Amino acid sequence: MRIVTSVAAMLRLARRWRRHGTRVGLVPTMGYLHEGHLSLVRAARKRVGGTGRVVVSIYVNPTQFGPREDLARYPRDLKRDVRLCRAEGVDVVFAPDDAEMYPGKAAGNYSTYVVEEKLSQGMEGASRPGHFRGVTTVVAKLFNIVQPDVAVFGAKDFQQAAVIKRMVRDLNFPLKTLVAPIVRELDGVAMSSRNKYLSGDLRQQATVLQRSIQAVRRAVTTAKQPAPAVQLRSLVGKVIQTAPDARLDYVEFFEPETLSPVAKVSPGTHMALAVFVGGTRLIDNGRL
Ligand code: PAJ
Repeated sequence: MRIVTSVAAMLRLARRWRRHGTRVGLVPTMGYLHEGHLSLVRAARKRVGGTGRVVVSIYVNPTQFGPREDLARYPRDLKRDVRLCRAEGVDVVFAPDDAEMYPGKAAGNYSTYVVEEKLSQGMEGASRPGHFRGVTTVVAKLFNIVQPDVAVFGAKDFQQAAVIKRMVRDLNFPLKTLVAPIVRELDGVAMSSRNKYLSGDLRQQATVLQRSIQAVRRAVTTAKQPAPAVQLRSLVGKVIQTAPDARLDYVEFFEPETLSPVAKVSPGTHMALAVFVGGTRLIDNGRL
């Protein structure tokens, strides 16, 4: 396995693979890898086969963090990430630094961004202004640098996957986007690098997101007719109240393809929510 830190070296490798017709799979991450990330690596390997190449990018992208968010304390452990990637049969870990990814930025001379204007408006986009502009920009750059045939994302970040799929279609990136299912801990909490922020009691309270989804799913599947979103919202509020340190940021019910909010919820509608547990913001989603 190779560890590549410069854009020039990664581009050289990518060009060589292209010349030889080697299939390339990319798994973009911000590191501090867990089983959720590794499931994407396995999906990428399955797609490109034994003769293909799997690249995992590890880069904590500053442009997708708001000024009051957790960029500075975002967990990092490149050594451990490299070990996990090697054990998974990854071919290349691409781990650039800020100067490589955003040349000139420190001096105020970086000025090009990619913006998706529709699917990125609600939910995470509304709560985290500028977040998706950072995501689409860095992912577009990674696509240009690695030139993958397939890129794998997780359903954990459902809106992110939709925004990236739209960008790929709209900007004609010559690759296929795969979305892999959410990997959860035994107690139902979606795996996340940010779970590291949660101490014993808060970690237990984090089950409130999954419990909210399950409560709504039960309500929707047993209802004789489509359930009003307002009613389900208050049901979520009640479940959230069972965790003393949890505060609902948003909950949305929407069509999974278009992300359009619906007023009446029926089986097949998608639900996403963000909840602060203590000082940690967690997200989760699921099909109802
Ligand atoms: P990060 O949060 O590290 O996640 C990297 C990828 O892993 C994303 O596609 C995410 O959806 C997926 N993932 C995270 N937790 C998961 C879980 N429990 N089950 C399944 N997949 C999971 O998302 C980002 O980084 C960044 O925004 C990035 C796309 C790398 C751009 O900077």
